[in-house]
Amino acid sequence: MIPLKEEIHEIRCGTLDYFGPGAIEKLPFILKKFRSTGLSKAAVITGRNAYRKSGAWDRILPVLEEEKIEFIHYDGIRPNPTVEQVDDAVRTVKPLKPEFVMAIGGGSVLDSSKLVALLLLHPSLKARDIFINREAPGSSLPLVAVNLTHGTGSEVDRYAVATVPDERKKVGASSDAMYPRYAIDDPELMLSLPPDEVLHTSLDAFNHLIEAATSTLSSPYTRMIAREGVKVIHKYLLRAIESPDETEPRYYLLYASILGGIAIDCSVVHLTHPLEHVLSALRPGLSHGLGLCLLLPAVIRTIYPHVPEVLSEILKPVVPGLEGRPEEAEDVADAIREWMDELGIRPGLRHAGFSEDDIPEIMKTFLLAQGYRGSVSLAPLPVDDGIIEKIYRDSL
Ligand SMILES: [Fe+2]
Repeated sequence: MIPLKEEIHEIRCGTLDYFGPGAIEKLPFILKKFRSTGLSKAAVITGRNAYRKSGAWDRILPVLEEEKIEFIHYDGIRPNPTVEQVDDAVRTVKPLKPEFVMAIGGGSVLDSSKLVALLLLHPSLKARDIFINREAPGSSLPLVAVNLTHGTGSEVDRYAVATVPDERKKVGASSDAMYPRYAIDDPELMLSLPPDEVLHTSLDAFNHLIEAATSTLSSPYTRMIAREGVKVIHKYLLRAIESPDETEPRYYLLYASILGGIAIDCSVVHLTHPLEHVLSALRPGLSHGLGLCLLLPAVIRTIYPHVPEVLSEILKPVVPGLEGRPEEAEDVADAIREWMDELGIRPGLRHAGFSEDDIPEIMKTFLLAQGYRGSVSLAPLPVDDGIIEKIYRDSL
């Protein structure tokens, strides 16, 4: 047990999430509730393919028709969405005057839909105002989030991330108004995820758990969540990749990703996420989860000596026998790298197209976009340029 500190923690739970095989069957109940309060016009936001390929659309469209919900469908959200895509979505759905928003997709779609729901109620704002001028309004249209990946946890938290291409920034925003009113976490809608996405999204959740449990805002609650989530991901990830048709591993990976979402909602992220956002802002093709994993061993090496008693407990399933001594940092970082290797992740940022020559640009982009305000200042050690640069260099 970590000794008691005189601190007040946030324990948040802002969304009603229906979780489990067949959870999509809750949709008629949700839409009936909306209709009974006069909400019958929806903006439906998706990416290009997943909403169909997952089988979600075949389940949702008949319900929209049955419940006589009028809707406009925008399918232009792409991975690492930009503020322009969000504004385009708002422009497209606006003529209907939507009364609620329905997101059907993974993290990119869910985050974009949160922004669409905010902007439809605040027409004087553009998406970039939320990220550049930090104006995240405190009210929004209701959002139903039908989640299709087991990684971001966005369906249960109050965050959204978007890229501002002309400023080469990928930044996050938060507002209590961004909690989905309802979320649907149905593992049966995730069986069509390609193996790479199974891997990358699960490791995104893994990073949420590690960062939330080690930030200066962590609490016994988030550390407990992290222990459970890491144990579950370690147990089921390989099985989910090897047996893609099996629901049970997806069920547990989805459970872990919900835990990750709750964990960062309470105790935030600190180092791996802001450092990764720079990489995927510079290389938009880089998957968020993969970028995180390429940085994770170096981040663990950096933070472990400052929180050995916390990380040794959480990482025990991955690195058995830890005693919680600061000197274990190097071995833990190596063991994490080996585990990633077993999972099929080739270590090193060079595999994501970065080299030694890119470090000055990476650092410049980091300092411009992140500075040392916000997330980085919540790491379990004081962070300066030297530490950031070392993490990037050690990750090459
Ligand atoms: Fe993430």
